[in-house]
Amino acid sequence: MSSDGIRFSTDNPVPAGPLDGLIEAVGWGRRGEAAWAKICARSSLLVTAWEDARLVGMGRILEDGVMCMVYDVAVHPLYQGRGIGSAVMRRIVGHLERQSFQSVGLFAWDQNPVNGPFYERFGFARVGYGMKFALPAEA
Ligand SMILES: CC(C)(COP(=O)(O)OP(=O)(O)OC[C@H]1O[C@@H](n2cnc3c(N)ncnc32)[C@H](O)[C@@H]1OP(=O)(O)O)[C@@H](O)C(=O)NCCC(=O)NCCS
Repeated sequence: MSSDGIRFSTDNPVPAGPLDGLIEAVGWGRRGEAAWAKICARSSLLVTAWEDARLVGMGRILEDGVMCMVYDVAVHPLYQGRGIGSAVMRRIVGHLERQSFQSVGLFAWDQNPVNGPFYERFGFARVGYGMKFALPAEA
């Protein structure tokens, strides 16, 4: 299996429907139209991967010109292991290399043991430990 037949795009914004469909498929739940409108508006790079009209992969950058975070790197479970996530990350790293950020981070969850090695391939290294503020809705 390969990423042949997959079209990559940096068009932004992307409609909420396909975005919610993708992140729901990877188990992150839906965010809704208003949230995606804000996310798209504030993401300086939004990489999407499409098979025809189906959104099968994505990744994005949120930054202020100095500090930068990579978010929402996701590939639909039916399309994982075909190089789509790597192709998304190569586009993100290409963008990072053209900037002069002081810091670039991302969150990688231990529930998926391939996440660490996956990001290490693209120049990321584990640092310290992460902390997450417990929002009232999660407490
Ligand atoms: C992590 C993720 C984005 C990788 O995307 P992908 O398209 O499956 O990755 P690729 O096909 O480009 O694989 C690249 C490498 O990652 C590793 N890998 C990715 N998925 C894997 C899997 N399910 N099992 C084993 N290794 C895997 C392999 O080492 C692979 O190397 P190979 O080229 O030698 O086979 C994807 O699995 C995903 O969306 N997972 C669920 C969401 C998630 O956890 N995102 C990360 C948030 S922290």
